[in-house]
Amino acid sequence: MSRRPGKLRLGLSLQHAGYHAAAWRLPEVPRHANLDWQYYLRSAQAAERGKFDMIFFADGVAVRENLDDREVLARTPSVVNLEPLTLLSALATHTRHIGLVGTASTTYNEPYHIARKFASLDHISGGRAAWNLVTSWSLGEARNFGRDTPLDYDSRYARAREFARVVHGLWNSWEDDAFVEDKQSGLFFDPDKLHVLGHQGEHFSVQGPLNLSRTPQGRPLICQAGKSPAGQEIAAESADFVFTADHSIEDGQAYYREVKGRLAQHGRHPGQLLILPGVVPIVGRSEQEAQDKFGRLQELIDPKIGLSLLALLGDLSAYPLDGPLPPIHDYGEMASVARLIEQRARKDNLSIRQLYQAIAASRGHRTLVGSAEQVADDLQAWFEAEAADGFNIAAPYLPGAVDDFVDLVIPELQRRELFRREYEGTTLRQNLGLDYPEHPRSTPTHADH
Ligand SMILES: Cc1cc2nc3c(=O)[nH]c(=O)nc-3n(C[C@H](O)[C@H](O)[C@H](O)COP(=O)(O)O)c2cc1C
Repeated sequence: MSRRPGKLRLGLSLQHAGYHAAAWRLPEVPRHANLDWQYYLRSAQAAERGKFDMIFFADGVAVRENLDDREVLARTPSVVNLEPLTLLSALATHTRHIGLVGTASTTYNEPYHIARKFASLDHISGGRAAWNLVTSWSLGEARNFGRDTPLDYDSRYARAREFARVVHGLWNSWEDDAFVEDKQSGLFFDPDKLHVLGHQGEHFSVQGPLNLSRTPQGRPLICQAGKSPAGQEIAAESADFVFTADHSIEDGQAYYREVKGRLAQHGRHPGQLLILPGVVPIVGRSEQEAQDKFGRLQELIDPKIGLSLLALLGDLSAYPLDGPLPPIHDYGEMASVARLIEQRARKDNLSIRQLYQAIAASRGHRTLVGSAEQVADDLQAWFEAEAADGFNIAAPYLPGAVDDFVDLVIPELQRRELFRREYEGTTLRQNLGLDYPEHPRSTPTHADH
């Protein structure tokens, strides 16, 4: 099935020195890059030059590695990270169009914190803020917040659902035109347009109102990345776009249909939730050049790091690196991601070493190594097969891989009329083609409390 031109959406996922586990070891990556906001600004500005919809920072509220294995820990650059909202606030002041997506946990925050911070970023950026809603799966995070173990799965997701509803409600504390600020009469806001939330639920008791007005986007956007039915339900009820990590067009299509199929029961239509699978592109002016760039990175992977990247599958250190993956009995807290990794090894008959090399490049996403035409062919195929509304491009190394994508792949996508040449609007919502959320007092929705 063919789609209308110009509608593919692109996010750029930025982390550490790039998604590839060895990116920080490339000679051109400066020391302390992780801690330098201007290092990320360079990639954000390149993405804006390429007319990307948004940049995205993943996050956790812990060093999520095994603290007991110092050999591995000492080789892991992700132990230090800037906090996404703080970083995005700095980037907001030096960019004009690009959306700013930050991750924050529903398990280790209160809804009022999140509603206020993302609304602030939306005001500061002129309507470019989005929240990646995560429930936080790791032990390290639990132990930083007074717990011995992570909250069990069902409780985490039940809390997250209520959390999202409260945040929606707080964002609607005031109608759009509440703040009249009439200097003559002394009336700052119209009291009829204030709506005090008064939420009393299983997990939260939040009076409101939020001490911030509706934002340039009406409210910030919400992103979700859960694959499980519980994660999909939150996406269907509350999110504007989802990040996924499927590896085949068939799996992508199945997920696309399943999530979009859940929207109707929440009074929403399929165009209101965009599905953006993750892709790690390594692009060259020829296929050979791309393979050479990839090889240069793969050679830098330390085997100790390689094995740690498979930690979701358990401790594999007793098994030969060049032998097959043993049977997996316990999939842990990130079961759906662990299963995807395992499936990949079984499908392509990969040894443990080959599996970690594949993961190192992509952290569970698809890796595309090739020329601009080859990468564009792949993205076009997924888009036209309705396995994706666009892509979350996870740059393997920064800023070089962003420049390559912008200089080589974007023009190819534009030539095929799959991608914009200019931003359509001023807010992230407008650029993504999502409707403005009318205040529930004028259009009743589930978010009306
Ligand atoms: C593309 C992508 C990005 C994610 N980013 C984060 C993140 O920044 N922080 C986090 O704690 N979890 C992150 N996750 C994990 C998800 O929020 C979720 O915990 C995981 O996908 C398992 O969800 P499920 O149990 O609903 O399948 C991400 C997952 C994906 C696929």
